[in-house]
Amino acid sequence: MIQRKRPSAGQRAGFVGAEKFLPRVHSLRQLRAAVQSCRGCDLYKGATQAVFGAGGSKPSLMLVGEQPGDQEDKQGRPFVGPAGALLHKALAEAGIAEENTYFTNAVKHFRWVVNPRGKRRLHKSPGAQQIAACHAWLACEVEATAPRVIVLLGAAAGMAFFGRSFRVGTSRGRLLTLGSRRFLATIHPSAVLRSTSSAERAVAFRGLVTDLQAARAAAA
Ligand code: URA
Ligand code: SF4
Repeated sequence: MIQRKRPSAGQRAGFVGAEKFLPRVHSLRQLRAAVQSCRGCDLYKGATQAVFGAGGSKPSLMLVGEQPGDQEDKQGRPFVGPAGALLHKALAEAGIAEENTYFTNAVKHFRWVVNPRGKRRLHKSPGAQQIAACHAWLACEVEATAPRVIVLLGAAAGMAFFGRSFRVGTSRGRLLTLGSRRFLATIHPSAVLRSTSSAERAVAFRGLVTDLQAARAAAA
């Protein structure tokens, strides 16, 4: 099992957690089927489906995002929307072959609110309680795929392993360890998309690529 600080009762208040929905056999196939029945927190209620991880079954890198977005929720696969397109571009620039990667998220259901300005669904970040409730699925994915390095894309992914005090700004770009697992944190690709100028965007993208290259080197 992945070692982490156990979520306190307060941190998971009100949620039963994913553990009781895990299948008996923790293969990716069984896990992917079972996650559709998960009621470990409240996020299943508003989502179309659970989005489990996807990619190579013996990856050198596991990339962990925050949660499925609008497109992922509809299509049932991680990183198929705009943030995913940017991530795939950054991986290519970093020279990372996608057959050696596995993509997943800190939580498996899309959290959203109605957009007051008309567009139907507006992404809302999962809370610490939902991230803690969903952790068992992520821990099983780590166990099943045994990646050499786990890339944490943004704060939610960091919190999923290191607890709620995790900050990308102070942790990014260098190898972190927890038990026998190795991690490298960087920004979430959507942070690049949110850049307000093209100059800022170019710097953010370059920073993401540099961190991915560090992850690639660490996994070599
Ligand atoms: N953002 C994420 O964090 N994960 C996805 O799968 C898509 C967008
Ligand atoms: Fe279960 Fe995770 Fe979905 Fe919550 S977000 S219902 S814990 S799969």
